[in-house]
Amino acid sequence: MLFEGLTTPSPDPILGMAARFNADPAPDKVDMGIGVYMDDHGRAPVLESVKQAEAKLLKDQSSKAYLSSAGHETYNHHIRALLLGTDHPAIDRARTIQTPGGTGALRVAADFLQALKGACRVWIPDPTWANHRGLFAGAGHSVSTYRYLDAETGGVAFEAMMADLAPLGPGDVVILHGCCQNPTGADLTPAQWAEVGELLRARGAVPLIDIAYQGFGQGLDEDAAGLRLLADTQPEMLIASSCSKNFALYRERVGALTLVSQSVESADRALGHLLPVVRANYSMPPDHGAAVVAQILGDPDLRALWIAELTQMRERLIGVRAALAGAMNQTGGRDYGFIARNRGMFVQLDLSPAQVDYLREHEHIHLSRSGRMNVAGLNRANVARVGAAVGRLLRGAAHG
Ligand code: LMR
Repeated sequence: MLFEGLTTPSPDPILGMAARFNADPAPDKVDMGIGVYMDDHGRAPVLESVKQAEAKLLKDQSSKAYLSSAGHETYNHHIRALLLGTDHPAIDRARTIQTPGGTGALRVAADFLQALKGACRVWIPDPTWANHRGLFAGAGHSVSTYRYLDAETGGVAFEAMMADLAPLGPGDVVILHGCCQNPTGADLTPAQWAEVGELLRARGAVPLIDIAYQGFGQGLDEDAAGLRLLADTQPEMLIASSCSKNFALYRERVGALTLVSQSVESADRALGHLLPVVRANYSMPPDHGAAVVAQILGDPDLRALWIAELTQMRERLIGVRAALAGAMNQTGGRDYGFIARNRGMFVQLDLSPAQVDYLREHEHIHLSRSGRMNVAGLNRANVARVGAAVGRLLRGAAHG
């Protein structure tokens, strides 16, 4: 029997939150769960640039015939340029394939590593996105962690990170968040990226940059500065990217895996080994979302509209981060300035699962049981209440 006697598994720590939120009847409930951008009215709308691109596609698309395992070639071309910049010296030795979301890119990368090298030692930050461990362990790799968050300052624990990465060996793979680190919002400075790059290069380790929030931190180019620096200095690297957030195309599953190799020839050969990994999995990615992105990035007017929409999302997040820090500071606990200094959708707080349950049950504030908050769920109407409730709870706990 396959299914008899199975135990009941726990729900996914991120996806599982939606059911509880939907079941909460409170009119003033606050959704700070899954990493979806919401506007000031708590909606996750389709972008206007996406609507216009979809209308054009509906009118002009002439075929739904199969593409290749690499997916939409024009999309791949634009994504490579969005990540690396059009004039980056590594662009010619980079190859990009379309994948089903950033998660798909990571899983294809994990399977690709397994196909090329067998099981690797994969290093993930602590804390990191809840799915990283499962993705790489599920593909048969061994997963080690390096410390990342300095709980005192809310910034990067850089010395601890470098100390933990000291045992890196040749062929080890190090996952680094490109920007807007999930869940801390604390990013490496350019000098820290350079130092990490030196260590990786000296040890023969391979960086795998996970960049799911390009444009949500400081800007499209600024957010890619770390990965561009590594592309300058590393012989080889992998980049898993996503259009879920910056194009708000979540359910369309639009992502990409980019490999950077030492030469044009070795990049082409590596791509030749990557495509069969996709073929033996899902054959080729679904087209629609990538066709939309290609349409937007290839049309100067749509591109300008998209950049304006992305800028608006970023600026709203910066505003709510500052408002949350201000509201929490008023509760008289610690200094929460790090919330305003960090970037992206997430704030990691030192909340226990019991405290998170309390906030959900008594305040109707829903966040991850790891203590991660998605600040996009905040708006002018609720930020003061949420800041006060969370700040009070943390201060009470600190005072025993
Ligand atoms: C998140 O971290 O909440 C998002 O990236 C959604 C997901 O797939 O977990």
